[in-house]
Amino acid sequence: MKNNSPVSRSGRFAGGPAADVARFTESISFDWRLWRHDILGSMAHAEMLHKIGVLTKSEVRAIVRGLDAIGREIRAGKFKWNSALEDVHMNIEAELTRRVPAGAKLHTARSRNDQVALDIRLWLRDEIKSLLGEIVDLQRVLVLLGERNADVLIPGYTHLQRAQPVYLAHHLLAYVEMFERDCERLWDCHSRVNVCPLGSGAIAGSTLPLKRELVAKLLGFVDASGRPQLTQNSMDAVSDRDFAVEFCADAALLAIHVSRLAEDLILWAGAEFNFIKIADAYTTGSSLMPQKKNPDIAELARGKTGRVVGNLMSLLTLLKGLPMTYNRDLQEDKERLFDTVDTVRATIRLMASMLRNTKFNRAACDRAASDPALLATDLADYLVRKGMPFRQAHHVVGAVVALSEKTVKPLNALTLAELQSVDKTFSRDALGVFDLDKAMAKRNIVGAPGTREVARQLVVWRKRLT
Ligand code: ARG
Repeated sequence: MKNNSPVSRSGRFAGGPAADVARFTESISFDWRLWRHDILGSMAHAEMLHKIGVLTKSEVRAIVRGLDAIGREIRAGKFKWNSALEDVHMNIEAELTRRVPAGAKLHTARSRNDQVALDIRLWLRDEIKSLLGEIVDLQRVLVLLGERNADVLIPGYTHLQRAQPVYLAHHLLAYVEMFERDCERLWDCHSRVNVCPLGSGAIAGSTLPLKRELVAKLLGFVDASGRPQLTQNSMDAVSDRDFAVEFCADAALLAIHVSRLAEDLILWAGAEFNFIKIADAYTTGSSLMPQKKNPDIAELARGKTGRVVGNLMSLLTLLKGLPMTYNRDLQEDKERLFDTVDTVRATIRLMASMLRNTKFNRAACDRAASDPALLATDLADYLVRKGMPFRQAHHVVGAVVALSEKTVKPLNALTLAELQSVDKTFSRDALGVFDLDKAMAKRNIVGAPGTREVARQLVVWRKRLT
């Protein structure tokens, strides 16, 4: 057997793969990052092999010590990856066996098919937890900005047209709600990632009496009450990547939420809105126009959504029509998954730090929110309180708006006589509707942007996120 030949070709093959084949089939260039989880999985497997009498005490000790040393070398960047050995699993196993003869027993009752399924699950479990931390951090910044600007009002928009006044905090908390659902989805996904496939072998388990529960417990594949979580069908276990698809779908929706926040910030940073000022360090300049300060972080955050959604499409397409069970196609899952994790994490982190370095322009917000047309619906509600059916009130106020346009007077500058020229139901208190503070104080139902309700929501979120 030639030196360059991986163990997977031993015996059956006359030699190593052709150089271009090795280049085309290798995955070490990207799956090396599973090394820590590959080692953890091997340690647990070795422990179990000892319990069932395949490894002696000293063999398992030597294996664990060997894996530990290899892990330290990898962390220090001193380990030499060999692409002829295809992937992270064979690289580590080959080096272990070179150092520790008992390493040759480690692959007993294990295939790279269940090993790679295990590694991705272990890795993704950690990534989900750290991503959740990042999302919570972003939520905290949004709450903080809401608190700091608790009395700032802005127009709420539908169709990107001014609609009704809202507290800025209410707008920001809308994103906090979206991100909370993202967290819930990711946690739910985590419960399906957190199932141990080891023991499934290549496709059909093993004739050896493996203790799968033990491995699952050692690796933390347990539910909330500590019960080990095991895959229940070896064929499904080695070919299932649903958990990766689910994660990528959750990440895609998360990215879409981030893109919406990014879009709002981009608009707000423009001179037309002028609601925010992003600190210099978080903006970029133009190579031509000296006056420009561009919100590139937000734009990239918006743009990166494309690749996160694309990764989801790639994974779905990858799995479509695959025959049972493991097929090498599945190796293509990793880069899409890695890219998704890296992209959403970086995006969320940058959005949070940009927001930490963003100030709201109170004067511009006040100016925009004090447009009396924003309270046209309040004027209709006023008529409803006087007993008018809402459809009729809507029509009357529509006519009042038309009159204000015709007379070029803002709604709140119309006289009582002018209002009554449209409908006699208006009386002297009608103009009181345009008192913005009072108008906000009235919106106190759950979920509305009323003064008390928004303050309450800020307190609720502050508590929930600490
Ligand atoms: N590098 C492979 C992958 O990522 C590991 C599993 C290989 N299994 C096999 N039967 N060739 O999918």
